[in-house]
Amino acid sequence: MRMAISVAVSGASGYVGGEVLRVFSEHPDVEFGSLTAHSSAGDLLGVHQPHLRTLADRTIVETTPETLAGHDVVVLALPHGASGEIAAQLPAETLVIDCGADHRLASAEAWAEYYGGEHSGTWPYGMPELITASGHQRDSLAGAKRIAVPGCNVTAVTLALQPGVSAGVVDPTDIVAVLANGYSGAGKKLATNLLASEGLGAASAYGVGGVHRHIPEIVQNLGSAGGEDVRISFTPTLVPMARGILATVTAPLAQGVTADEVRAAWETAYADEPFVHLLPEGQWPTTAATLGANTCLVQVTVDEKAGRVVVISAIDNLVKGTAGAALQSMNVALGRPETTGLQLRGVAP
Ligand SMILES: NC(=O)c1ccc[n+]([C@@H]2O[C@H](COP(=O)([O-])OP(=O)(O)OC[C@H]3O[C@@H](n4cnc5c(N)ncnc54)[C@H](OP(=O)(O)O)[C@@H]3O)[C@@H](O)[C@H]2O)c1
Repeated sequence: MRMAISVAVSGASGYVGGEVLRVFSEHPDVEFGSLTAHSSAGDLLGVHQPHLRTLADRTIVETTPETLAGHDVVVLALPHGASGEIAAQLPAETLVIDCGADHRLASAEAWAEYYGGEHSGTWPYGMPELITASGHQRDSLAGAKRIAVPGCNVTAVTLALQPGVSAGVVDPTDIVAVLANGYSGAGKKLATNLLASEGLGAASAYGVGGVHRHIPEIVQNLGSAGGEDVRISFTPTLVPMARGILATVTAPLAQGVTADEVRAAWETAYADEPFVHLLPEGQWPTTAATLGANTCLVQVTVDEKAGRVVVISAIDNLVKGTAGAALQSMNVALGRPETTGLQLRGVAP
């Protein structure tokens, strides 16, 4: 007999909370308990998430240890800094999955430098595919009671480059990543630069010059994959789409390595991964092909004249970039098949 899994979702009125509700709804054993948030407490969920018809009549309640108590799983989809405090008040036996940044970084110094404030500690990292010294991160997630879901940009860049770093076919000291990002990555908050009148006809860079908060997390991951002295120039750009990340990641080809060896590194790394797909040679990832799906599409080639490996990856920032990674990690933590409830089919065109 299958066991039901009761799940509370905090931040249910936001983009990530809404996507957690949509994605987790596809899991055959998930039953939603409390749906919590902050300023929207007391509203019907359908006011804030009109696309979630099956949950439209549920009432959002305030986020407290009491409203989140009594569930098998609590998913936190709160602004960074808010989840550390509430998570510390949840029982040790509850599986808490944090989609925010509070528990991702191992280094308290990196937290202080990029986020500021007190570091909430480090939880098992919710990227099952991450290459580690002993295998893959999924091995560390089995039985976990606390999971830190990766940042969306971090997922796109890590999955793009980790095979090359792990196999030693790229030089990790000179990585350049430029990303095209959909607006939902910024959350629902109101800001002038996020208005349609500013963004619909424009592409614009942000977090430029080594200050973006996802940088230390990328360095941490590529270090996990075997990279020494990882250095990255990372620049995201907002482009007029609601969802999606297209990452272009390049790094110098390591000395004496052939193009065939480069391709073999990516083929080997992702041959058995259910959600990370190296496309046939010559086919380039598009964000559109990942929308709504828990997939990361990857292509790699060598620019011989530049002496650099060029990798393109595409994800849906709200699915593989967060809510899908949360469900995938929950499955592993609870000993369920990793792919249960997760979508390989995108929405196209
Ligand atoms: N957007 C993405 O693509 C993405 C991807 C990966 C990770 N993340 C991370 O996921 C988290 C949520 O992002 P988002 O894009 O969903 O943001 P969002 O759309 O702005 O939603 C924020 C949610 O948090 C609630 N909230 C705000 N302050 C709170 C507080 N003090 N206590 C309890 N609830 C509070 C809000 O509730 P009210 O509306 O009721 O005030 C809302 O439900 C962030 O940490 C973000 O960095 C986002």
